[in-house]
Formats: sequence, C-alpha cells, structure tokens
Amino acid sequence: MTHTEIRKKFLDFFEKKGHTIVPSSSLLPDDPSVLFTTAGMQQFKPYYTGEADPMKDFGSLNTVSIQKSMRTSDIDEIGDESHLTFFEMLGNFSFGLKPNGSAKGGPSTLFKTSYFKKEAIEYAHKFITNEMGLTISHVSVFKGSSSTHSTKPQGGEPVESTSSGQATVPKDEESKKIWQSLGVSDIREEGMEDVFWGPTGNSGPCGPTTEIYCKNTQGQDVEIWNIVFNEFFCNGSREQLLSNKTKLTPLEKNGIDTGMGLERLVMIAQNTKSIFETALFSPILNLIPIEDTRIKRIITDHSRAIAFLITDGVRPSNKEQGYILRRLMRRVITYGQIHKMDLTIMHDIFAKIHEIYSPIYHDLDRNLIIHEFDNEKEKFEKTLKSGLKELAKIPVFDASGTFKIYESFGLPYEIIKELGGEKAKNLNREDFDKEFKKHQELSRAGIEKKFGGHGLLLDTGELKAADEQELKTVTKLHTATHMLQAALRKVLDGEVKQAGSDITAERLRFDFTFPRKMTNEEIKQVEDLINEAIKKDLPVTFKEMPLEEAQKSGALFFSKQKYPPVVKVYTVGPDPSTSSGPPFSRELCGGPHVTHTGEIGQFKIIREEAVSSGIRRVRAILKE
Ligand code: ALA
Repeated sequence: MTHTEIRKKFLDFFEKKGHTIVPSSSLLPDDPSVLFTTAGMQQFKPYYTGEADPMKDFGSLNTVSIQKSMRTSDIDEIGDESHLTFFEMLGNFSFGLKPNGSAKGGPSTLFKTSYFKKEAIEYAHKFITNEMGLTISHVSVFKGSSSTHSTKPQGGEPVESTSSGQATVPKDEESKKIWQSLGVSDIREEGMEDVFWGPTGNSGPCGPTTEIYCKNTQGQDVEIWNIVFNEFFCNGSREQLLSNKTKLTPLEKNGIDTGMGLERLVMIAQNTKSIFETALFSPILNLIPIEDTRIKRIITDHSRAIAFLITDGVRPSNKEQGYILRRLMRRVITYGQIHKMDLTIMHDIFAKIHEIYSPIYHDLDRNLIIHEFDNEKEKFEKTLKSGLKELAKIPVFDASGTFKIYESFGLPYEIIKELGGEKAKNLNREDFDKEFKKHQELSRAGIEKKFGGHGLLLDTGELKAADEQELKTVTKLHTATHMLQAALRKVLDGEVKQAGSDITAERLRFDFTFPRKMTNEEIKQVEDLINEAIKKDLPVTFKEMPLEEAQKSGALFFSKQKYPPVVKVYTVGPDPSTSSGPPFSRELCGGPHVTHTGEIGQFKIIREEAVSSGIRRVRAILKE
C-alpha cells in the first residue's frame, strides 16, 4: 500500500463517518509559547475550549486531518529505526460531547454528532484491522494517577486536593472494557508519563489516552496511534502538570484528539525494517553517497525538515525556529564536508523531496529551498574548516569552551558533541543551552543599552525588529498588512474590521472580524489582489492631518487604538486627490512603510483560522 493510498483511505474512512477534512496547518503555530506544531490538535485548540464553533467553521463537530509536525525533543535520537524531526500525523478529532453522553442517530446526523471513548476506539480498531488489514499487538490504557485537579464532574472551579494533598485522575476502566469487547486481550496499564496527553504550550486541553501498538518486521511492538480523551483544561505546561505544580479543571465538553504517525504506519504496512526503507524515505536516502547508515538517516531526516520549514516561512537565524533550521542545515553541511560528499547532491535530494511531496503540498518550492540551503552553505563553509581545525586542538570539551566554538565558527552542538568523541563525553545539551541562554541575556542587555532600554531597535507594539535587517523585513510586512486589510474588505465584505495585528521578522499576523472560515478561493483572491498591486509597484505615500479630518476622509483606523490629535494617513496606490479611482488602501498609521509596493516581494497567506467566535486570524509571509 502506498502512502498516497493510506492517506486517502484514512481521510475517506473518517469523512464517511461525519468528519470534515481540514488541511494541515503551518509548522509554525500561533501559540507563542511553542516553537513548532507538534500535533494535529494544535490548530483545533479553541474548539475544545468552546472559544470557537466547529459547526460554523467546519459544518461538523468532527474533523480529520493529516498534519505536518515537527518535534525537536528527539533530535539526538535521529538515526535509529523510528525517530524523526519532521513527520506527518493522521488524526481524527471530535469537539463537544457532554461527559457521559453518547453519539446518537444515523449517518445523516453524523456531522452534527460528536463522540467520545466508545466510538473513537471502535473507529481506530476498525481502521487498523479492516481497512489496513493489520493486527493490533497490544494497547495501553491509563492506570490512574495522583494529580492536583478538580474532581467536580463538569465545568466550574477546580477543587483542590484531597486530604493527602492530591486528587486522583481515575483509572480508565471504560476504555479497557471497550477494548475487551473488541477482542483485544493484551491491555497494559500505564501512567501519567506515557498515556496522558498535553497540554501543548503554556496551557490547554489535555487528558488520558489509549495507545495502539503493532509489530514491526523484527517482532517488536511499535506505537502507531495515540487516542486522547480531552477531559480537562490544564492551566500550566505539561512539565508543571507532571510535577504537580498546576491544576486540572474539567472541560465543559469532552473531546477526542487522535494522532497516528504516517511514517510508522507506512513502515508497518510496507513491512520494512525501519521507516527509512519505506517509499517515503528510501528514494531520498539512496541518493546519499555515504556508507554510514546513521548519517544517511540523519541527512534524510534533516533534509525533509529543512524543506518543510523553509516552505512555511522559516529562514536560518540565531533565534527560535530560525536557529533550529540553521542547526539542521549546518549539521548536513558538516557531514558533507567530513565525508567528502559533494553538497550539490542536496539539489537532487530536495528535488526528490519535491517529487514525493508536491502532489500533496503544492506550495513546496524546490528552487526556494535550494536557494536558501546554498545561501547558508556559502556562509557556513567559510568558517567550518577553521572550526573543525580548532575543535581538533581542544583537549577536553566543557560547555563554555564548546559555546565559544559555536559562537566563533557556527558549529552546532550536535556536531561538536559527536566529533569530540571521548573528549566530549561529559558535555551535555543542558549545560550548553545554559551557556547559550547566558549569552543571549548578555547580548540583550547590550541591545538595551544601545537603544535606551527599549530592548529592540523597533517596538511599536505591532512591529518588532532587533536590527536593521529585521527592520527592513517588518517594514515590508507592515505595508503588506495594510494591503491585506484592504483586500479582505474587497473580497469578503466592507464590514471586515481589524481586531489585532502583530508583525515579526518571520511573518505578519492579522486578526479581523468575520463570522466564518474563509474559503480557499477567497484566500486565493486576496493573495492575487495583493500580488497584482505589488506587481504594479504602486507608490506608498503619507500626509499629516488632524485626526478628525483623517477619520472623515474614509481612511481605515483601528478603533482599539488611541491616536494623537495630528496623524499620518498612509495611502497605497495613487492619491485620490490626484487620480480618478480610489487608492488601493488608506489607513491611519505611524509607519514605517516601504515607498513602493514593488519592494514587498511575493505575498502568501500560510494560515487562516479562528481566534474566537466572530474573529478570524490570517498569517502571511513574503517571498523574494
Ligand atoms: N495529540 C496526540 C499526539 O500527538 C494525539 O500524540
């Protein structure tokens, strides 16, 4: 069975059971407390908490997706049989069944009927055994745990602790019974660490899970599917939850969140020894002219992650997502150098990734990926050789010495640790990260000194830039934001109003009032309008005038913002006083903006979603 057949089977199976197919969201989530999208449920968080309405946005209480995901916690494990940074997750989701309820009604009401444990387990069982023809080797269920949380059955305030200081999340007897009724006999009970999901980020829905395992060709059990029963809201992070430092409050409505690793499922279905021998990986891996299997796998994994991160707008940098991308690229480049691999082979590798994935992800841009990779290679190769020489001279590696090598030559931690061998045996990531953080704090303090304690070169609340380069990028994104608002009003309706805006060097984010999800056609129309206006290289000008006059002129303004008595009005396109037609956009604003739209580059919406009821959010990036 090919991965394409498996994808289709999964989506069809759940669509027939009343699920709306939702496209994967970006690898960059909206939640600023997490770097990457690590699971399918992330784009659906507001639907579990009741902040957004799934009937309105999806026409169903149930959705199904194949989500691009990225996990960096396993980065040291890449190279074994089954760990990856970038992967895809098949998932079905259900929002909104009151506790103890049960789905009712025939197929015609399926879209309006959410479900919980019984249906979720039965669907998964049927998909694995009937549709895929596989055998479940064992399942796990939650054995119950002590945790500070409310024992109140529904909604309401959390009830703190029992006399022992802790309350209990009960054992999941119900799931156990359901599995037994389906004839699964090997049911293992596990605890909080293994079979309790979430929350992602600083807070969110979470709950006990049940996992499905199948045997691989070597007879080992591999976890392929995780079914989460979202019953609680956790007001802290997962770390805080596991150390009992936060509370759980029952959600108003129970929800289902499942995740099945596509690559692992393909491995089981294609009967291969590892994921790297499946048709998703082997065509890439076979291009790499290196003997060492582990290194071949690492390059394969990292190349996929690099391709998808660049597509979602990440660029190599020394911060956040950009820092991860840079590390992945530099690790590949270093292996290439050490193993005398001609790095132009990466062009073929990215072409192969494009060949495999572009029928599914149309926005994969092979040339852009190659361009960004070559750029980084050119920058890094200058210091890499000297870095490797310097590395050879060091007798013992400690965190601060290692950090200096990183800082001077740009060698990533992984490489230093690996090449250091015996000499680096006491070096660990935690200490290195501490050094990194110390350095970041020092350089932040430096910036603060330079910019009068402001911390950033520019911080208007809406726009943030740390240096000249970022300032240039956010300026372009700022003008693009004005054009976006104007285009949304043209395509959707005149009543669209700004509800928020946030611009970083990576992307723009724009919130606006609108009652439903935008269609793909509407998104495309908005993009086209903006890109046409960019092509025309329209002038961007401003005039200062009294606030009242500006507001009367019909220029858009953000009602939540306080404006000074005299304001600037920015106009994109010909000024109406000198030309017959209306300008593309007119808005009250403090700037800065580009002088001509041609400077902006290509505009692309990477995500559209609900923030809360009646408020939508668009994220967009610029390409050169
Ligand atoms: N959110 C769950 C996971 O990613 C399904 O494992």
